Amino acid sequence: ENVETKIITELIRDNLQLVAHALRHGDVVAIPTETVYGLGANGLDTDAMDKIYAAKGRPSDNPLILHVPNVESIKPLVKEIPETAKTLIKAFWPGPLTITLPKSDLVPDRATGGLARVALRCPDHDVCRNILELAGVPIAAPSANISGRPSPTTAQSVYDDMNGRIPYIVDAGICTIGVESTVVEVRDDGVTILRPGGITKEMLEQVVDNVSYDPFLSSQNEAPKAPGMKYKHYAPNAPMRAFIGNSKDVAEAFNNVIREQESKRGAFLVSQETYELLKDSVHGEFHVYGHSGDAVALAHDFYKTLHHFNECDVDYILAEGVENTGLGVAVMNRMEKACAGHIIYL
Ligand code: TXA
Ligand code: MG
Repeated sequence: ENVETKIITELIRDNLQLVAHALRHGDVVAIPTETVYGLGANGLDTDAMDKIYAAKGRPSDNPLILHVPNVESIKPLVKEIPETAKTLIKAFWPGPLTITLPKSDLVPDRATGGLARVALRCPDHDVCRNILELAGVPIAAPSANISGRPSPTTAQSVYDDMNGRIPYIVDAGICTIGVESTVVEVRDDGVTILRPGGITKEMLEQVVDNVSYDPFLSSQNEAPKAPGMKYKHYAPNAPMRAFIGNSKDVAEAFNNVIREQESKRGAFLVSQETYELLKDSVHGEFHVYGHSGDAVALAHDFYKTLHHFNECDVDYILAEGVENTGLGVAVMNRMEKACAGHIIYL
């Protein structure tokens, strides 16, 4: 069925009430968060969550994150809250940290893909938390893209994928962080990072002992604990390759590829320093994200730029990556998937 999709830009209480009411009564609404836009639906309503899977074209074994406006709201959704989880919540909520905990009977299997744990997150975004509060139910929300495409960080990117599929998109401007939340499994003896994201390993280590990455993140042999991690994600339309190194080496590597590609139309995601070395000799679509090595700037611009390159209809994409530390771990995890593994360390 084809619905008319309305973008709501006036963030007054009446409009937030309207979307909260729609959510509560089973509609799917795109909502802003500090990481990426989410495709929200009532997390206690199986039929409503079915609509999310339909709108995204998402494999149904991939579980959803339940979004809550405050810590109190998670109590009915879980069996217990271990001390480690309390510590993390105190340090990082509201914020880009998703915690999986043993679910209560109230949480439908549709939300967890049949898993015994439910993923919970309290976003650091006032408009989002307002909507969550007004809705009065936990809101299940995956990223608001069609499955396999780059996540959206602007309302326009949501619209490009979801026009005709959902009634409302709440437009609160560009997402500040730009990559998804960190997903962690919390046990009594430590914390496992299932998906790197806005809260880094270094940040987690400042408040809890025993933080490790799920082995699947570095090896294709293990079965992933976050089912979503096994799917090819975040791919732009054109084939993409990435290089990491100093600007001189990156510029040289780009030049070699550009020569091979001859008359094809390229798009380039680069730092300011690398741009300076290429701008006089290279023609194509450039996006400059910030200074060399700035993972925060790259995270902020990454998905937005992939969407832009899709619109420019380019033949290939070259990107300059950053080191695998801090927020760089999360960005490079997305970049690796966008490049289908074609990343070269110079
Ligand atoms: O920043 C975010 O987390 C965004 C915004 C909208 O909040 N949401 C988001 O949702 O990225 P989604 O569905 O695109 O990704 C959720 C990830 C998937 O990799 C999924 O497999 C994992 O979290 N996940 C969800 N529930 C889980 C569970 N019970 N156990 C393990 N992994 C889980
Ligand atoms: Mg996603």
